[in-house]
Amino acid sequence: MPNLEKLFENNRNWAKGQLADDADYFRRLSSLQSPQFLWIGCSDSRVPANQILGLAPGEVFVHRNIANLVIHTDMNCLSVLQYGVEVLQVQDIIVCGHYGCGGVRAACENAQLGLIDNWLRNIKDTYSRHWAELEGIEDIMARSDRLCDLNVLAQVHSVSHTTIVQNAWRRGQPLAVHGLVYSLHDGLLRDLAVRITSPDQIEDIYTMVA
Ligand code: CO
Repeated sequence: MPNLEKLFENNRNWAKGQLADDADYFRRLSSLQSPQFLWIGCSDSRVPANQILGLAPGEVFVHRNIANLVIHTDMNCLSVLQYGVEVLQVQDIIVCGHYGCGGVRAACENAQLGLIDNWLRNIKDTYSRHWAELEGIEDIMARSDRLCDLNVLAQVHSVSHTTIVQNAWRRGQPLAVHGLVYSLHDGLLRDLAVRITSPDQIEDIYTMVA
């Protein structure tokens, strides 16, 4: 596997470095993880959760997919959410989009790309709900970046609409859902100033009582 040789070398050096700093490092981490944060972000290789947040292994539970979507039929994302909330007891769920997102940009256009068109349809639905505002933005990059914001807001609500999150609130578990956007240009996170911490903040039709 010549293509992977460099990776194994990197890995050996990294493990050695960790042990040099803290001889107990792997023994401690292998016995438990108790991250405070769940990150739901884009698969984009330029948006690595741990590095952006300055967090070490063990400090953030991560789910990534194209364009950071939380779809209520996606067993993968829902399983991560359930495990994160109910077992790991994370306190903060961060939905993080990023400007220049290829998935969001593709959803603004009309070309067929294959299977992924079905995934991106969810972003087109958000576009449709905010059609007047988005069509009013002439510059296609600026329009796509505004859709990145709107997509994050929609996913924050989607997380909050799950029974997983609503049941946690009803049990009295402290749990906040946040919406952030990352800029590839300056490496900085922007807070979209949405923070949902109770069922009172969601539309009545989506509240569900066990
Ligand atoms: Co992206």
